[in-house]
Amino acid sequence: MKGVTVITHPLVQHNLTRLRDQRTGPQEFRRVLGEVAALMLYEATRSFAVEPIPVKTPLAPARGFQLRREVVLVPVLRAGLGMLDSILQLIPHARVGFIGLKREETTLRAVFYHKSLPPDLSKFEVILIDPMLATGGSAVGALDLLAELDARRVRLVNLVAAPEGIRRVRKHYPHLPIFTAAIDERLNDKGYILPGLGDAGDRLFGV
Ligand code: PRP
Ligand code: URA
Repeated sequence: MKGVTVITHPLVQHNLTRLRDQRTGPQEFRRVLGEVAALMLYEATRSFAVEPIPVKTPLAPARGFQLRREVVLVPVLRAGLGMLDSILQLIPHARVGFIGLKREETTLRAVFYHKSLPPDLSKFEVILIDPMLATGGSAVGALDLLAELDARRVRLVNLVAAPEGIRRVRKHYPHLPIFTAAIDERLNDKGYILPGLGDAGDRLFGV
């Protein structure tokens, strides 16, 4: 699918499989989700703009690079939290914003319950993080909020995506880069991704 990068790296796929496995309990789920998030981030940030800066090694001047723009990580609560810490280890200078969204069980509508973000996102690289892209309602809700704050460079990182969710995000944000470890088959009648990995938040936090 256009604009969607499926990260096929063997370590990503190995870890995704452990997360899919119903025998993986919360403790291991947390650890593996963190590991896979860090691996995915390498791919998701490959196109970040850098600018040259001079640097002196102990022996000689050298040409170095620094990221051109500051980074804001935005995990979607709750499940996005499972990917945050390991990504922060890679980009420790990143700022962190939060968007709290909960799907209503019957309507599958995503309802906001929390937001805390910098008031102007125009100058930042924004990485929206959520393990699951199902109907796409949560992602579009979060992206709308980022757009209201004038975010201009946003990328979406999901561990597992359903075709339905990708289509919905694409319809509203045709140029948004999406990174995922898998595009699964479809949604079931309760809006869960098949085969998916179940309820990511519940598996992460054991409730
Ligand atoms: C899950 C998941 C996404 C959302 C995806 O969160 O983490 O945010 O569902 O579904 P959608 O694409 O159909 O909107 P949920 O609302 O269950 O909240 P949780 O993370 O607190 O469990
Ligand atoms: N949210 C999840 O956590 N899993 C799904 O399969 C769909 C939405």
